[in-house]
Amino acid sequence: MVLKLLTENFRTRFGRPLTLAARAPGRIEFIGNHTDYNGGTVLGASIDRGVTVALAPRGDGQWCFATENRAGVVTVPATDQPARLTGNDSWVNYPLGVIAALAAHGRPVPAGFDLLVTSDLPPGAGLSSSAALELSSALAFLALTGQDVPRAEVVQWCRHAENHFVGVPCGVLDQGVSGFGRRDHLVFIDCRGPSFSTVSLPSSARFWVFNTHTKHALVDGLYAARHRECMAAARALGVPLLADVKPAQVETARSRLSPESYRRAKHVVEEIARVDATVTALKAGDLAAVGRLLTASHRSSQQWFENSTPELDFLVDQLIAQPGVHGARLSGGGFGGAVMALTTPEFNETQAAAVMAAYAAKFGSNPEVLRTQTGDGAALVG
Ligand code: GLA
Repeated sequence: MVLKLLTENFRTRFGRPLTLAARAPGRIEFIGNHTDYNGGTVLGASIDRGVTVALAPRGDGQWCFATENRAGVVTVPATDQPARLTGNDSWVNYPLGVIAALAAHGRPVPAGFDLLVTSDLPPGAGLSSSAALELSSALAFLALTGQDVPRAEVVQWCRHAENHFVGVPCGVLDQGVSGFGRRDHLVFIDCRGPSFSTVSLPSSARFWVFNTHTKHALVDGLYAARHRECMAAARALGVPLLADVKPAQVETARSRLSPESYRRAKHVVEEIARVDATVTALKAGDLAAVGRLLTASHRSSQQWFENSTPELDFLVDQLIAQPGVHGARLSGGGFGGAVMALTTPEFNETQAAAVMAAYAAKFGSNPEVLRTQTGDGAALVG
């Protein structure tokens, strides 16, 4: 069914059939806020929505990129060293960055292709549509060039694309969850390896995502600033990464840390402890305890990491007052974006509407609400 629709869309755009397609899911950051690039642990959920990339090879050495929601085709001559695009075409930097990462790792790159992107993942909702585009592109390129590569390497190349081509100093969370996701499971990442495993999630768990559509004007710069501040805090503590210290050590060192280094370190090391406590609570099937940890994570982002906003705090406060909500927290980089709530199956549209109405009364706009559940990780389609 999916393949039939894709084939029709591809033919409409390029006038010929597709050869292969790959799909990768979006992700919810479950818990572990800004722990990944600090060498810590994190839990994420791959969801039942994602990005699909359909491909057919071309013989003229051109890479032709199209996306369902924009007219036109972006054409780039095939090369081992693609250049970064700007403006309206900058969405192409995700697949181009994957190609640049392949080349940087001494892998063959596709000679020429037509490529069409389709998606049922809302962009800008904090669900990592960019990682989903990277993973789906990578699997499609590898299939087109007949390369069989361990999944952990594919994930690392996609992160490489984001870090070195797109220019965002993100950790491995988004790509790891999209690459290793599994329905009714969370992905656990020890980011130092990195190593990836899954932890089962009770089937009664439900996710609701409330996207504020707010974005701090400096969000990219603020993410990079937090990255720098964490590295400075680690240096002040005399360790390579914040994951090398325990919460008690941060308290002991408080007097020799700047107030900012203390706040960033406290959040990161306590958040890593919360990730471990969450795994324990999940293994015991105790979603109420998991929910308390999620909300504690939000409070820490709010107070110590300072990457929350009044809109996100308001949503968390509203949500945790509702029956059926285990816990709620900002999900992703912060400074705007989305809040996720973990709920029982009883939490319903009427309650979600009440939260939206309260938000609209305070902020004058409606958040976008998405009810979602876990889904499988990136794979070839058909
Ligand atoms: C963004 C980044 C991730 C991670 C989160 C914060 O989603 O892409 O690597 O750092 O922010 O936890």
